[in-house]
Amino acid sequence: MIRIKVPATSANIGVGFDCMGLAVSLYSNVDFEPSKKKLEIYGCPEEFRNENNLVYKAFVNTCDFLNEPVPNVRITIENNIPVARGLGSSAFCIVAGIKGANDWFDAPLSNDEILDLATNMEGHPDNVSPAIYGKLGVSFIDENKDVQTVHFNVNPSLRFVTMIPNYEVSTDKAREILPTEMSYSEAIYQVGHAVALSKAMELGNLKLIRECIIDKMHEPYRSKLIPDYENAKNICEKANGTMYISGSGSTMMAIVDNEKNAEKIVENTKKDFPDWKVYHLNVDTKGAISEVI
Ligand code: HSE
Repeated sequence: MIRIKVPATSANIGVGFDCMGLAVSLYSNVDFEPSKKKLEIYGCPEEFRNENNLVYKAFVNTCDFLNEPVPNVRITIENNIPVARGLGSSAFCIVAGIKGANDWFDAPLSNDEILDLATNMEGHPDNVSPAIYGKLGVSFIDENKDVQTVHFNVNPSLRFVTMIPNYEVSTDKAREILPTEMSYSEAIYQVGHAVALSKAMELGNLKLIRECIIDKMHEPYRSKLIPDYENAKNICEKANGTMYISGSGSTMMAIVDNEKNAEKIVENTKKDFPDWKVYHLNVDTKGAISEVI
């Protein structure tokens, strides 16, 4: 049996809209085994146990890419990444399906090829890159339509707390709400802050992160779609932390530089929002991992 373990990913990190993404220590697994039937899927709601399942679609796409026949397969999904909350649940499915098929045929694809395939399916590389490589990824699609990605180490002193509301924000709505233009001075602001943020994360300099992370491209608009945004921000700031909207939301991700303050955020979020899911996480440094069991 092939087991693929994929980390949750948190895109944007404030000022890195559509280009930065962070892998965090919340994991989902998918097992791939030979089957007598064309397709068996377990571990997900009935409506996803068919050929439209995203893990299976990525598996089939990869078999086609490799010019291999699609084998009969039993897929068992253990998903801990909440769906449609801005934590890379679709990147998880896509990366797991691609890596599952790649390993089925003795791993002919490099991670860069896996990234190209995954970006084609997802439409953007900001989640799939850290899902494959771990760490903090900065990615873009170049003029030849190839994906370029680089990775930064994140200082292990930094702690991350997911504040996951019990409501969704639709990605379509979160994109529709954005303006179509920004000024030259705002672009300069954004570039400077984003580049400095990568280094500040590497250094673990929370004071600098707090300054760098303040975004002008999407958060001011998207925060209006999250009714508890200001309350969540207050909880983070009281624990000396900062916060950004993870992906297109609704999750908000707190950053602090010690365990005690991370736990303070967990406790206060659970107290004020008992229906939310709150996890104290680290950065994942390995990305998706395959295991033959
Ligand atoms: N970068 C994307 C966005 C992530 O913020 O819309 C969600 O897919």
